[in-house]
Amino acid sequence: MLERAAGPWLAAGLMLLALLLAPPVSAEPTAADAERLARPPLGLDDDGRAAFLRGRALFRQNWVIAPSDDRASGLGPLYNRISCVACHAGNGRGRPPERPDQRLRAMLVRLSLPGSGEHGAPRPHPRYGDQLNEEGVPGVAPEGRAAIDWLAQPHRLADGSTVELRRPRIRLTEPGYGPFGAVLTSARIGSPVLGLGLLDAVPAADLQRLASQPRDDGVRGRVNVVWSVAQGRTVIGRFGWKANAPDLRQQIAAAMIGDLGISSHEFPAQNCMPAQTACRAAPTAGAPELTDTELDDLARYLALLGAPPRRDQDAPEVRRGELRFAAAGCAACHRATLPVDAAAFALRLGIAAPAAPATIAPYTDLLLHDLGAGLADGRPDYRAGPRDWRTPPLWGIGLADVIDAPARYLHDGRARSLEEAILWHDGEARAARLRYERLGAAGRAELLAFLRSL
Ligand code: HEC
Ligand code: HEC
Repeated sequence: MLERAAGPWLAAGLMLLALLLAPPVSAEPTAADAERLARPPLGLDDDGRAAFLRGRALFRQNWVIAPSDDRASGLGPLYNRISCVACHAGNGRGRPPERPDQRLRAMLVRLSLPGSGEHGAPRPHPRYGDQLNEEGVPGVAPEGRAAIDWLAQPHRLADGSTVELRRPRIRLTEPGYGPFGAVLTSARIGSPVLGLGLLDAVPAADLQRLASQPRDDGVRGRVNVVWSVAQGRTVIGRFGWKANAPDLRQQIAAAMIGDLGISSHEFPAQNCMPAQTACRAAPTAGAPELTDTELDDLARYLALLGAPPRRDQDAPEVRRGELRFAAAGCAACHRATLPVDAAAFALRLGIAAPAAPATIAPYTDLLLHDLGAGLADGRPDYRAGPRDWRTPPLWGIGLADVIDAPARYLHDGRARSLEEAILWHDGEARAARLRYERLGAAGRAELLAFLRSL
C-alpha cells in the first residue's frame, strides 16, 4: 500500500530507517540472519535493485591482473587481496592469523614514519608508502610480510578471577625494497560494513556538539579531521578504526587503490612509490581502472546495507544487561542513539525522503577516545593519537560469530570473545571496564547477553 501511495523509493528509505525498530526475529541468530544482510532492501525499484546487485557483485568480484579482456581487471601491481569480500566475509569483520607463519588474510598493516604528511595525514614511508602490500603481480616484488606473534597476558579482574588475554607483536619480514627502518605500524582487521549509509548521514554538527559535551568518568570524545579528496578540504572523519576516512565513497575508493591496487577518479595514480620501478612500469587496465559508475554502484550497495534487527531484545536477561550497559558507563561512548539527516541520506541515494527526522541505534559516537597504553598502536592517523581509537558501532556485533566464525574483536582482532574485548578497555574507558569487572559473574553474563542481542 505504501509503495503505491508514495513510490517504492520511499518505502525503501522508510524500511531502512525502520530496521532499528524491527521486532525481534529469532532467539538464536542463524546463518539465515547473516545471509539476509546482503539482500537488496524490499521496495527498491528495478533500477535501484539493479544498481544494488551490481555493487554487490563488485564487492564479491575477484579482480584479475591487466592486461585482460575481463572487465574486472587492473589488480595491483601491488596489493593485499584480490577482492573486497576477502577481508569482509559476509559483510562482516576480518580476523588475524593465529600463528606467525600464517599470512594475513583478512587484515592489513598500515605504515608510516613519525610526524605528519600532507593535510595532516600519516607521513608515508619513503620506500613503502602507508600500507604494507604483501602481494605483487608477476615481476613486481611484494613489499614484504607481517608476522604476528601472540603474547599471553593474564588479566586479573576486580573481583579476583583471572582471564588470559593475548596481545599481538608485529614483525615485518622479507622486505622487498630495502630496510623498513624505524617504521610505525598499525595492524587492523577489516571492520564490518553494516549500516554505513546511516552513519554517513549523521550530521557533522551533531558530532561536533557531542565532542564538546562533558561526560562522566573523564570521557571526552574528539572528532578526527581528515582530507576529503572530493571536496578538496579537511572534514570530519568517520570511517576506519581511527575515523581516518571522511565518507563512504572515499573509503571505498581508498580500499580499491590501497588494498586491491585499482585506481579510480578519486585516486588516479597506481600505488607505487618512486623507487618501485617495476611497479611503475607495469601495465594498467585504464585510467582510471574503476569507472565512476562502478564506484557509485559500490557506494550505493554499501550505503543500502542496513544494520541487522535485534534479536531477543525483550528477554529479561537482555533487558537487565541493557541497564547494566548504561549503568557501567559503556553508553557514554557506545551511544544508544544518534540523529540522522534522513533527507540527506535519501538524497544521496536518490530515494524519496521519509517524512520524519530519524534516529539510529548504532552504539557509537563516531568519536576518538584514548583507550590506554595496552591497545595503543603508537601510530598517529590525522588527529587520532597513538592511543586513540574511534568507538566502533556495536550494532550487529551479536551476529559476528554467525557471519564468519570464529569472530575476533578490537582493531587488531586480539580479542577472542566479547568479554576479552571489554577487558582491554582502559584510558577513558577504565572506569566503565572496572564497573563491568565488579558486576560479578551473573551481572557480566547479563551485559554480554545484551551485546549478543545487538
Ligand atoms: C586486506 C584486507 C581488506 C580488503 C581487501 C578490503 N578491506 Fe575494507 N577494511 C579493511 C580494514 C583493515 C579496514 C579498517 C581500515 C582502517 O582502520 O584504516 C576496512 C574498512 C572498510 C570500510 C569502513 C568500515 C567502517 O565501519 O569504518 C569500508 C566501507 C570498507 N573497508 C570497504 C571495502 C571495500 C569496498 C573493499 C574492496 C574495494 C575493501 N574494503 C577491501 C580491510 C580490507
Ligand atoms: C571511552 C569510550 C568507551 C567506553 C566507555 C567503552 N568503550 Fe567499548 N570501545 C571503545 C573503543 C574506542 C573501542 C575500540 C578499541 C580498539 O579497537 O582498540 C571499543 C571496543 C569495544 C568492543 C569491540 C568492538 C569491535 O567491533 O571489535 C566491545 C564489545 C565494546 N567496546 C564494549 C564495551 C562495553 C561493554 C563497555 C562498558 C563496560 C564499553 N565498551 C565502554 C570505546 C569505549
